[in-house]
Amino acid sequence: MFGSKKEPHISKEELALYENAKRRITQKKRLVAHVVIFVIGAIFLIVANQLLGIGKELTFYGYNWFVYAISLWLFLLLYHLISVFITNRFMGKNWEDEQTAILISKQKARIEELSKQIKAEHPLPSIETKKGQTVTVIAAADENNAIGKDNQLIWHLSEDLKRFKSLTNGHHIIMGRKTFESFPKPLPNRTHIVISRQRDYKVPSSVIVVNNLHDALDAAKNDDRPYIIGGGEIYQQAMEFADVIELTKVHHHFENADTYFPEIDTDVWKIVNNQKFEIDDQHDYPYSFITYKRK
Ligand SMILES: NC(=O)c1ccc[n+]([C@@H]2O[C@H](COP(=O)([O-])OP(=O)(O)OC[C@H]3O[C@@H](n4cnc5c(N)ncnc54)[C@H](OP(=O)(O)O)[C@@H]3O)[C@@H](O)[C@H]2O)c1
Repeated sequence: MFGSKKEPHISKEELALYENAKRRITQKKRLVAHVVIFVIGAIFLIVANQLLGIGKELTFYGYNWFVYAISLWLFLLLYHLISVFITNRFMGKNWEDEQTAILISKQKARIEELSKQIKAEHPLPSIETKKGQTVTVIAAADENNAIGKDNQLIWHLSEDLKRFKSLTNGHHIIMGRKTFESFPKPLPNRTHIVISRQRDYKVPSSVIVVNNLHDALDAAKNDDRPYIIGGGEIYQQAMEFADVIELTKVHHHFENADTYFPEIDTDVWKIVNNQKFEIDDQHDYPYSFITYKRK
């Protein structure tokens, strides 16, 4: 629009190849310059010694000093040659990236191992839900599991909001402090339970504040279907005890999200309902309502 000029698009891989080619050209140019300087330098040393007689008497084991100077320089030149054609060729940027990736994955494995060890040595008290109660996680996530950005939702899907309202109507909704703060005001006809580590967190009188998930579930013990409504931190912790996940999958990849829904482990969860809806006047993205139950 308005005749704006399109910038040529260069992918990351193309840019890396270009940078690498530039680096190799510079290395080879330097090597050629080194060879030229070496030849001129060697001639100069021979002339200085043999024709001009500089240090003519200076010999070691029967050889003039310039033989040693040239040999040493030749050795440095060979080292330069090897570093350009062997070391830098086979141990260039790709090799460095591969080594970094190997190191990172080793570190990650070590961290995982340590965290397993810590969990085994100091197990957290597991959260038990009340018998007959169905704790339901309700969320909307994109194809990358993104759920929010800057403490807001990233999309507007009216059918998703309607579904959220109808499912949670009359129930307890459990949420993290940040999700609570993303609402303009508490939602009508639902009991809000807000989890915060802050001891003096101020909320309207109708809202219950607790300091951990255990107390949140306790506050909802008389509800046969309390809903965990987010956000990312709370979903992560709720996955180990929730009974059902009501997920709206938004079939789109959103950029720059900062909060994510946890990966759903298909060894633990099975899909019991899946309905897909296409783009229409009110919905800019296709989406699916998917219900998971713990196996
Ligand atoms: N797409 C969706 O379905 C959906 C749904 C809900 C939210 N969201 C989005 O998710 C984002 C917010 O998620 P978030 O992960 O940043 O924050 P969050 O989970 O809503 O809240 C995090 C806060 O909860 C408290 N908290 C967490 N675990 C706790 C524990 N074990 N004990 C005591 N307090 C605990 C802490 O509050 P204090 O710092 O006060 O201690 C923490 O800072 C927003 O972008 C929101 O729009 C998306």
